[in-house]
Amino acid sequence: MVKERGNFNSRFTAIMAMAGSAIGLGNIWRFPYMVGQNGGAAFILVYLFSAIFLCIPIFLAESIIGKRTHLSTFGAMDKLAPGTRWKWMGFLTVFTPLIILSYYSVVGGWSIEYFLKSLTLSFSDPAVGMEEHSAVFGRFISSAWTPLVFHTVFLLINAVVIVFGVRGGIERFTKLTTPVLFVLIVLIMLYSVNLPGAKAGIDYLIHPDFSKLTGSALLSAMGQAFFSLSLGVGCILTYASYLKSDEDLLATGFFTAIFDLLFAIIAGFAIMPAVFAAGIEPGAGPGLIFETLPFIFSTMGADAPWLCDVVSILFFLTILFAALTSSISMLEVGVAYLVDQRKMSRTRATILLFAGCWALGVLCSLSFGPLKDVHVFGMTIFDACDHLTSDFLMTFGSLLFVFFVGWKMKKADVRDEFTNGGSLRLNRKVFNVVYFFIRYVAPAAIIVIFISNLLM
Ligand code: TRP
Repeated sequence: MVKERGNFNSRFTAIMAMAGSAIGLGNIWRFPYMVGQNGGAAFILVYLFSAIFLCIPIFLAESIIGKRTHLSTFGAMDKLAPGTRWKWMGFLTVFTPLIILSYYSVVGGWSIEYFLKSLTLSFSDPAVGMEEHSAVFGRFISSAWTPLVFHTVFLLINAVVIVFGVRGGIERFTKLTTPVLFVLIVLIMLYSVNLPGAKAGIDYLIHPDFSKLTGSALLSAMGQAFFSLSLGVGCILTYASYLKSDEDLLATGFFTAIFDLLFAIIAGFAIMPAVFAAGIEPGAGPGLIFETLPFIFSTMGADAPWLCDVVSILFFLTILFAALTSSISMLEVGVAYLVDQRKMSRTRATILLFAGCWALGVLCSLSFGPLKDVHVFGMTIFDACDHLTSDFLMTFGSLLFVFFVGWKMKKADVRDEFTNGGSLRLNRKVFNVVYFFIRYVAPAAIIVIFISNLLM
């Protein structure tokens, strides 16, 4: 079974693939603007705290199920709890990532457009002001055709990588792009923190102002941690199902989480000092990257046009890579289900899901323009898809996963999987702590988040 499905070649490639899934628009686009809207350093502290104490246990729970069974969600649940309804979770984990993918690929499409713009050296004109950059962005996302073309291209790239399968596609792709991504973002950060006026941005990121930490900021910080680690939708479960049986879950989980955290923090330090250096409002919102950065780049262009060109090309390329390695993991969950359970070929499965995502994505994309007055629960189609998935379906999925591992699986089996039959010393030592978090702390915390989200 394992052989037919293919598995990750080495620990390095497994971690790169998982980190590639985790690191994406969530880190580079969502994290900085959320930090800006929710008070800076205090938000980061809560984010770090929940990533370590809440998200790592959920991550481990998902990986335990995946590696134990070498199956995607539906089959995995059915194997571990035969004849129960747990297998229906398989559907949740097929549909949730597909809904996420449909709007994610719209933003992915924007990053293609901005990457192409940077290639034509469009950002180095210092005469273009902030208002104009905002207007250009506004016109672009509200037009009907161009965003649709790029949305389609973005999804097509995903489909091609997925068709080649785990060894040929995901592994080859992520092992190359994830390290490149790190180098790029570090370079950009070094540039950004050395801009004149950057110090205010650095202070903003390291001196917590707890008065800004409202209840909703707290929840956003936790939600951001979930989103960033791709939790609750079976992505991690599916990737873990491609791990070799003797792989160390603690190591892969720990390194993936650390890379993801580091990347978000570095992205914060790449973006926020530049925002302050340019005298821009940190709470500018979701447009932060696409509206503000071109402005920052062109300010830079006044001093050194070639540097501005290099930095802008590198930056948008980084975003595009990051988005792709994450979106691939979303598509893979559904494809794995169709291949494992419905015995479909990878190619057919990919075409089918591509079509579904594409269609929903078209609606999401048009919801910035021609369909902007169509509202679902008082939100645009794009916002509704985002809200439904990140505030409800993901937390719900995570709850079911930790509950399953903590209460439904036998403790001996969980220990066996986590310690590889007792052969991993460190894992044996920390098992009881990890188990306590999976069984009690994580479910309790998720229920609190879930109820608060419902009430807000
Ligand atoms: N974690 C990715 C990011 O930060 C996005 C992502 C990939 C994701 N797979 C997911 C989000 C599954 C939620 C669920 O961009």
